[in-house]
Amino acid sequence: MSRPRVAVFASGGGTNFENLVRKQAQTGIDIALLISDYNEAYAIQRAINHDIDYIVVERSKYDGRADFESDILNVLKMYNIEYILLAGFMRILSADFVGRYPGKIINIHPSLLPDFKGADAIGDAFRAGVGETGVTVHFVDAGIDTGEIIAQVPVGVDPEDTLADLEDKIHSVEYQLYPQAVKLVLAKGEEDE
Ligand code: GAR
Repeated sequence: MSRPRVAVFASGGGTNFENLVRKQAQTGIDIALLISDYNEAYAIQRAINHDIDYIVVERSKYDGRADFESDILNVLKMYNIEYILLAGFMRILSADFVGRYPGKIINIHPSLLPDFKGADAIGDAFRAGVGETGVTVHFVDAGIDTGEIIAQVPVGVDPEDTLADLEDKIHSVEYQLYPQAVKLVLAKGEEDE
């Protein structure tokens, strides 16, 4: 069976994107496209390095979210994309957009959801002084870091950890968990067919 065609959405550095690219064969996906909403995202350079097509759809160029999303949807159709993986994509997708890819949009978030939703989950957990935080992979709905949870892994915070230490620990868990969780979703999809 051919591997499902995937688009990764990223707004920033793109280390998760690159990790997914490196592991795409073992995960069972074909990453056909990177979409970024920010033209200076380093993720774009990573796409170039790996010879993966990329498209920048800059939110600031659009008056409203509907037109922005409609351009993204057109690109996704053009590339026959079946699954969307959000990897540090810092925008909320509308219910209309999400409804067009039911069960096919996945996000990674650096906390044990529902704790520490939002854009700075690692910093928020660190400043809150928790002894444990983690990583969550979940299906995307129209809320902010809500949606059915696929997999979660806790990460302990040691008293001597700096914020940078915690970021490193979380990212190394992300690089393991995201490909594994995607593999799980694909296996489930095949079972249901
Ligand atoms: C990752 O830690 C990801 O979990 C987080 O952004 C980072 C992106 O890093 N996502 C969110 O906070 C979503 N709410 P990367 O660009 O190096 O992959």
